[in-house]
Amino acid sequence: CGIVGYIGKRDSQDILIEGLKKLEYRGYDSAGIAVFTKNGLEVRKSIGRLANLEEKLGGQPLEGSVGIGHTRWATHGKPSDVNSHPHTDNSLKFSVVHNGIIENYLDLKEELIAKGCKFVSETDTEVISHLVADEYDGDIVKAVQRAVKRMRGAYALGVLTEYEPDRLVAVRFASPLVIGVGQDENFIGSDIPAILEHTRDVYILNDGEMAILTKNSVELMTIDGGFISKEIFHVDWDLETAEKAGFDHFMLKEIYEQPKAYRNTMMGRISDDGRSVVLNEIGMTAEQIRAIRNVHIVACGTAMHAGLVGKSVIESLARIPVETDVASEYRYRSPIITKETLVIVVSQSGETADTLAALREAKRNGARVLAITNVVGSSVAREADDVIITQAGPEIAVASTKAYTSQLIAFYLLGLFLADTLGTRKADDIATIIAAMDSLPEQVERILENAAVLKQVAESLSKHNNLFFIGRGVDFAVAQEGSLKLKEISYIHSEAYAAGELKHGTLALIEEGIPVISLITQEELYEKTLSNIKEVKARGAHVLGLVNAGSEEEVGKSVDELFAIPKTLPLLAPALSVVPLQLIAYYASLARGNDVDKPRNLAKSVTVE
Ligand code: G6P
Repeated sequence: CGIVGYIGKRDSQDILIEGLKKLEYRGYDSAGIAVFTKNGLEVRKSIGRLANLEEKLGGQPLEGSVGIGHTRWATHGKPSDVNSHPHTDNSLKFSVVHNGIIENYLDLKEELIAKGCKFVSETDTEVISHLVADEYDGDIVKAVQRAVKRMRGAYALGVLTEYEPDRLVAVRFASPLVIGVGQDENFIGSDIPAILEHTRDVYILNDGEMAILTKNSVELMTIDGGFISKEIFHVDWDLETAEKAGFDHFMLKEIYEQPKAYRNTMMGRISDDGRSVVLNEIGMTAEQIRAIRNVHIVACGTAMHAGLVGKSVIESLARIPVETDVASEYRYRSPIITKETLVIVVSQSGETADTLAALREAKRNGARVLAITNVVGSSVAREADDVIITQAGPEIAVASTKAYTSQLIAFYLLGLFLADTLGTRKADDIATIIAAMDSLPEQVERILENAAVLKQVAESLSKHNNLFFIGRGVDFAVAQEGSLKLKEISYIHSEAYAAGELKHGTLALIEEGIPVISLITQEELYEKTLSNIKEVKARGAHVLGLVNAGSEEEVGKSVDELFAIPKTLPLLAPALSVVPLQLIAYYASLARGNDVDKPRNLAKSVTVE
C-alpha cells in the first residue's frame, strides 16, 4: 500500500491524487482520499485503479487544503469500495490511512465491538480509526500515541480528526514513511517520489517515531511523547527519473536505463588506476573479512535470482562457501548462523517483509549483515551493518530489470573487493575483470540496438502457453530470471532447467514445436550445453540459442534461431545475457495485450509476510 497526506494553503485533492499516482506501484487494487471540506471530513474511495477514484471525484470533487490518501494492495479483506482506505470511526470525525498489518486487530476489534463500535469493513485498518476515536479526549497526538501502544504489527499512518482540522498526524512503525517540508505546506508520503514534485526537503522517520504537521510546522516526536530533532535529508533525484521519459512503459524505460544504472553503480567504487574496488561503505576490517567462514545470501523474487549469480561470483572470486535461500524459507528453517557468517540480503525496495525478517533473524544470531538495496533510508538499509546502494534510481515497473542488473554489478564489486582483501585473485586478474566491467554499459547499449529482433521472437513466443529456458552454471541462474520475467508479465508458463538435469524427467514434456530458450555463454560448458540442445531438438523443440558473439556459426548448426551478445568474461555474462530475456518478456507481454507495468496479482513491494 502507499499513503500520502497534505496540509497547506492549496487545494489538496489534486496533490493527493498526483502523489498516489507515484505510489501506485506499491499496490493498486483500490484507492481513496479524505479531505476537510466545508461540510467536515469527507471521504471518497473506489475499488480498482486510481482512474476510478478520479472519475468519482470528477463528479463530486472534495475542496479543502488538508487531506490524506491511500492506494491499497489487499491484505485483510478483499479489494472493495468499503475495504478501501481512508477508514473512519462511527462518528465520522476521524479518518485514517494505513500501510502495514495490525496483527492483533481481531482482539482489538472484539473489544471495540463490546464498547459499541460498529464495523463496516473487513480490514485491520478500520480498528485503528475506532481505536483512535475511543482514545480521544481533546488531543489527537495523545490519542494516536495511546492507540498505537495497543497495536502490534507494522504501520505507517496518516490520521486526521475534524476536531483539530489544522493538524495532520503521521506515525511510523515497520512500514516506510517520509515527511516533506515545504513553504506554508507540508506533506507525508510512503516514499520520496510521492512528494518530490513539491519539495526536496524530507525527514525520514524511524520506527516508533511520529510527526505532527500543521501548515507552517513539523514537530517530530517518539510515540512515547518525547520531542526529537532530525536532520533534513535533501533529495537530489529529479522527478523525471521517476517518470516514463517518453517510453511506452516504465519497464521499457528501465530496461534502457541499464547502461546508466551500471555506470552509476560502479561510479566512485573503482580506484583511479582501475586496479581495485573501493567500497568505503563496508565497515569490516581486513581481519573481520578474513574471519568470514561462510556467506548466506537471502532475498525474494528477482533479488533472489541476483543472489544466485552472486553465489557464483563470491565463490569463484573470494573462495568463500555461499548458500542461497529465499527469505520466507530462511527465517523458519533455523539456519546455521554463527558470528563468522556474513549474511547478504538483497532487496530493491529495502522494505520486503520476508527479507527484513531474515535480516533480523541473522542479526539475532550474531551474524554481520550486508545489504544490497536500491533505496537509501529503507528499512533494510537502516538495519544492516553494511550497505551497498545499487544506484539504479527509482524502479517503478513491478517486473524488476535495472535493479536486478545493478545488483549483479554490486555482487561483482563485492566479489572483487573480498578477493582483493583475501588475496584469492591476482592483482592483474582483478584489473582484467574491472576493465571488462567497464565495457558492460556500452555492450548493453549494443544489445538494445537489436531490440527489434527480440520483438519478433517474442511475438511468435507469445502464441505458446508453455516453454523452457535451459543453461548451465551462471547461465542457469539467468535462465531462472528470464523465466520469472516472462511468467510475471506475459502469463506464459515457463520453467527454467539446469540443462543437464532435463533428461532426468522434464524431457518428457518436450514435444513438437515447444520453444526452448537456451543460454550458452560459458565456454567451459559449451560442448555440454550443445549436447542438451541436441536432445531437445531431436524431440521436436524449437530452440532459440543465446550465444556469445563469435560462436554463432558453430551453435547456429544446432538451433533454429540465434541471438548473440557481445563477448565478455564468463562470470560477467549474466549482466548481458539477461537483457535480451527482459526484452523478450516485455514484448511477449505487449503482444498479449497485458498491462506490462502492473501485472495481475503482483505488487512491486511486498511489505507483508
Ligand atoms: C515483489 C516484486 C518482485 C521482487 C520481490 C522482492 O514480489 O513483485 O519483483 O523481486 O518483491 O522485492 P525487493 O524489493 O525486496 O527486491
